[in-house]
Amino acid sequence: MNAMREESRSVWMDVEVAPDAAPLTEDTKTDVVVVGSGIAGLSIAYELVLRGQSVLVLDRGPIAGGMTSRTTAHLAPICDDSLAELLSMRGKELAQGFQASQSAAVDRIETIQQELGIDCEFRRLDALLFLDPKSKPSVLDDEVEAAGEIGVAVERGEGLPLRTLEDRPYLRYPEQATFHPLKYLRGLAEALQEKGARFHPFSAVAKISEDKTGVHIALETGHTVDASFVVVATNSPIHDLFALHTKQAPYRTYAMGFEIERVALADALYWDTEDPYHYVRLTSGSDGKDVLIVGGEDHKTGEANDAHVRFAALTSWIKTLVPELYRWSGQVMDTLDYGAFIGREAHRNRTFVTTGDSGQGITHGVVASLIIPDLIEGKENKFATVYEPARKPTKAAMTFVSENSTAITNLAKYLAPGELASVEELEPGQGAIIRDGLTKIAAYRAEDGTLYQRSAVCTHLGCHLQWNAFETCWDCPCHGSHFAPDGTVLNGPAIAPLAEIPTGSDAEAEA
Ligand SMILES: Cc1cc2nc3c(=O)[nH]c(=O)nc-3n(C[C@H](O)[C@H](O)[C@H](O)COP(=O)(O)OP(=O)(O)OC[C@H]3O[C@@H](n4cnc5c(N)ncnc54)[C@H](O)[C@@H]3O)c2cc1C
Ligand code: FES
Repeated sequence: MNAMREESRSVWMDVEVAPDAAPLTEDTKTDVVVVGSGIAGLSIAYELVLRGQSVLVLDRGPIAGGMTSRTTAHLAPICDDSLAELLSMRGKELAQGFQASQSAAVDRIETIQQELGIDCEFRRLDALLFLDPKSKPSVLDDEVEAAGEIGVAVERGEGLPLRTLEDRPYLRYPEQATFHPLKYLRGLAEALQEKGARFHPFSAVAKISEDKTGVHIALETGHTVDASFVVVATNSPIHDLFALHTKQAPYRTYAMGFEIERVALADALYWDTEDPYHYVRLTSGSDGKDVLIVGGEDHKTGEANDAHVRFAALTSWIKTLVPELYRWSGQVMDTLDYGAFIGREAHRNRTFVTTGDSGQGITHGVVASLIIPDLIEGKENKFATVYEPARKPTKAAMTFVSENSTAITNLAKYLAPGELASVEELEPGQGAIIRDGLTKIAAYRAEDGTLYQRSAVCTHLGCHLQWNAFETCWDCPCHGSHFAPDGTVLNGPAIAPLAEIPTGSDAEAEA
């Protein structure tokens, strides 16, 4: 039991990346180990291989099976959270650096897919930010002003080709982009394998250490990899217990795919000013149809277990009667200032990290590939300061405190009563927290009646877990780990599985 629910399936997941790759079954050496095979890991691996480094990529699960397979693939050179807020938090120079680096990332994807001949539906298109009736009209004015200061091209318009939005004011940002992320990564992985990079799926890393001779990677299986450098591209960092985790917070985000006739809607990236925001975009479907992707309804991980309500809200928001094909959710790591943390780890020489996708994780992953190879080679990089992992944005201090209050409020959950009085009350397919004296149990009864009881304490830093009925997994609200009902880690930063709780007869036997 180590996969999330079948019902949660993204529009991209039929495409397999490096399906012939096998787990690592021996001790080995390489120049650089990349841990994590999403957009960040594979993009960094590619740039390193082009520079002549030997690279080995390790992943806990399948290659490119992480959050990249759950994205909605908006490739935005602009900050899609808010240009005005980006400017106020980071100042003009760093906001311009952010914009230039995101733009360079999209250009790099465009160049790579052209050079390698990857058929990944990459295309440039408009992004249209429209006013939600609950937002003040001045929101758009603020965006136009900030765009002018940062140097982003923008135009005003009115009336979108979406039902109920025919008279809505909007801003048009030209030259944004989109693609099929797994087709792109499939092509990139093939090129990497041809150039000698090694991929090992189902090879979870348990420990990363470094000394003067290099880095030493220990896998859960006991095998080891020695290298000169390591890049931790696990989305939520597995090597750092505290520093980076205090500066970002996990948010669960939802998406659905509806089949529509091709050309029923102009190909563009649409999103609104509501908080949390909604968005609409297109990708190609089968039989000459398109798939309309609708997403949003984000919430902090573990603070809601109402996916059906969020999907209903998305359906009613789109207000269109087209057959639904896909629904899925995933997680993004939101940082205080919308910028990822990319660079050399504080107090380490040979360990590099990329994390903090902030909903722009595809471009942030590629930005990491434009920065980290230079740092590994000891070169200056013009974007490095924008993403310096050690930065502490002072203007965002209040947000910083509120983001991290999750960890504080989470402590109170240990004192709260369980959600059910006993496991006897669990229905098939239901998960719930049950108190047994001082112990909190994460209990799940499978559809066939099998009962799973694991500790409700996250193995990363001990936060209290929350059941996610839609994905059939336990979510950790603190730093984003997910666990299967049998305790297996589905998403980091946790490495160890949930502790087993002896069930009825086992407990009696132990006594
Ligand atoms: C619904 C949704 C919509 C989104 N929409 C957009 C969008 O439109 N535009 C955009 O730019 N971004 C978007 N994002 C964000 C973006 O998809 C992600 O931020 C990005 O794909 C993350 O890439 P990554 O390489 O950092 O992480 P991942 O793709 O998650 O890769 C990390 C890998 O590390 C592996 N790993 C973890 N722990 C270990 C370990 N101990 N040992 C070995 N391997 C390990 C995992 O198995 C995983 O495969 C969206 C995200 C979601 C969920
Ligand atoms: S992910 Fe850090 S405590 Fe759970």
